[in-house]
Amino acid sequence: MLTNRLEFLDLPKELTHQAFARAVAVGLSQSPKSVPCRFFYDAEGSRLFEQICQLPEYYLTRAEQALLESHANAMIQTAGAPTRLVEFGSGSSRKTRLLLESALRSQPRIHYTPIDISSDFLRHTCIGLLQDYENLHIEAISAEYRDALNALLPQEEPRLFLLMGSNIGNFEPGEAIQFLGLIRAQMTPRDRLMLGVDLIKAVEVLQAAYNDAQGITAQFNMNLLARINRELEGDFNRSYFKHDAPFFPDKRCIEMRLISQIAQTIRIEGLGISIEFEAGEPIITEHCYKYSPESFHALCEAAGLETIRCWQYEPQPFLVALLKPL
Ligand code: AVI
Repeated sequence: MLTNRLEFLDLPKELTHQAFARAVAVGLSQSPKSVPCRFFYDAEGSRLFEQICQLPEYYLTRAEQALLESHANAMIQTAGAPTRLVEFGSGSSRKTRLLLESALRSQPRIHYTPIDISSDFLRHTCIGLLQDYENLHIEAISAEYRDALNALLPQEEPRLFLLMGSNIGNFEPGEAIQFLGLIRAQMTPRDRLMLGVDLIKAVEVLQAAYNDAQGITAQFNMNLLARINRELEGDFNRSYFKHDAPFFPDKRCIEMRLISQIAQTIRIEGLGISIEFEAGEPIITEHCYKYSPESFHALCEAAGLETIRCWQYEPQPFLVALLKPL
């Protein structure tokens, strides 16, 4: 029975709904308007993100995959051959399989804690992993990162924490330091943290990755409006909004936005509010920060973390770093 090897901690649906309602009410009432990017990931958003990862323009996934394919064994050995892996934002866990396989080669049994906000997607991923690896035990948590961090139980054996796919780039720099600091506070001296981070590169390459020719990133962005309509009884008409994702060199970040094409009033019945938009007004939906190796190491150091070893992919600069508590 696969389920003997699965524990699944799911945040009550009601709490997820309340968090979304609160974030939309606050975010759309301020100027500039914004909605936090973690709300992209309902079932449809998670499916669209998987599609993004396969796009020719979205080099991030392939760059990280290439590093893991070449170095997973060295990564696991340098991390001290841990028996427990804890991953924030695990998604499909596709790339993590390379680390899990390497860990399973050096240990008889591995415990994996995938953490993801999209509950159904996470459950589906867990079943697939358990089918493929008989010595894998999963203690999954479907929750926001901070809630999941609080739900983690202290462990005797050393753990390897993972925050891959440049997920760290979606935090504002100050929040990134704060979140890494929270992970750091949970780490024992033998625990390790592995981070995958996208590095600064040619503007055209960055812009193409977030403005793909097939329009999948635009659909992913627009899905947020569909989610507000469905879950909060909004009346957004998606044909009056447009996807936009410019790169800001001074902040070194891509800003994902939805631009109102006309002056309009949107009713969100479930929140009991109406929101006015001017023509051309954006909703900021995501920031994707790009780091230099130096600014990335400075960020880690500010969070109390020291780099043990780095693996860098050169064709499209991308870094995987293994860190320990300072
Ligand atoms: C999940 N995260 C690292 C992606 C990124 O590249 O910042 C999210 C994404 N947004 C648009 N495309 C992909």
